[in-house]
Amino acid sequence: MRPVPLTTLAHELLRQHLQPGDFAIDATVGNGHDMEFLARTVGPSGFVWAFDTQEQAIAASEYRRSQAGVNWVQLQQVSHSQMKAVIPEKYHGKLAAVMFNLGYLPGGDKSITTTATETIAALEQALMLLSATGLLTVMLYPGHPAGAAETQAVREWAQGLPAFFEVQTQQNAERGPLSAILMTIHKRPESTLDTP
Ligand SMILES: C[S@@+](CC[C@H](N)C(=O)[O-])C[C@H]1O[C@@H](n2cnc3c(N)ncnc32)[C@H](O)[C@@H]1O
Repeated sequence: MRPVPLTTLAHELLRQHLQPGDFAIDATVGNGHDMEFLARTVGPSGFVWAFDTQEQAIAASEYRRSQAGVNWVQLQQVSHSQMKAVIPEKYHGKLAAVMFNLGYLPGGDKSITTTATETIAALEQALMLLSATGLLTVMLYPGHPAGAAETQAVREWAQGLPAFFEVQTQQNAERGPLSAILMTIHKRPESTLDTP
């Protein structure tokens, strides 16, 4: 049996985690598939902020947003490293999920990719914006040169996080060591930290 693609698994984890009315971020909106998924999952009483640096991605996502009729989405053509400045302060510490799908725009210019420096700055902000029960998901692609360096940097960053963050990574072994990786991060419930 073919393994479940990790992008599908990320959606499944988020679908189980998110509730109608939740606030979420798509940190790399690309063609808008993840944005539409998040928007449909949180529903019209929720809200989604979505970021991408490329005009082509914002245009494709705006088209998808309008076709889907999900008006509770704000698309921003700025780096995800600006997310803390973009999201109003009253939502800081209240987000239920932040989703990163790193790499290049499918169907776009493959030389324009997410970078370790911007990604790590954004990941730091994402952890600050999430609520105590919030979930961070990151799809990493070590199979292309920029992605390999970025994957290593993100892994090192995650290893350096305080113990109250639980970090898990999954990779489909059948697809080899350069295949996509799904990293999830959430805060451990306080009680588990008190246990010797
Ligand atoms: C793999 S695609 C995302 C796929 C998307 N989530 C979807 O559902 O179609 C990665 C995207 O990250 C974007 N990107 C690159 N650097 C970025 C940055 N600093 N901030 C936000 N997005 C960035 C790229 O332009 C590209 O569109």
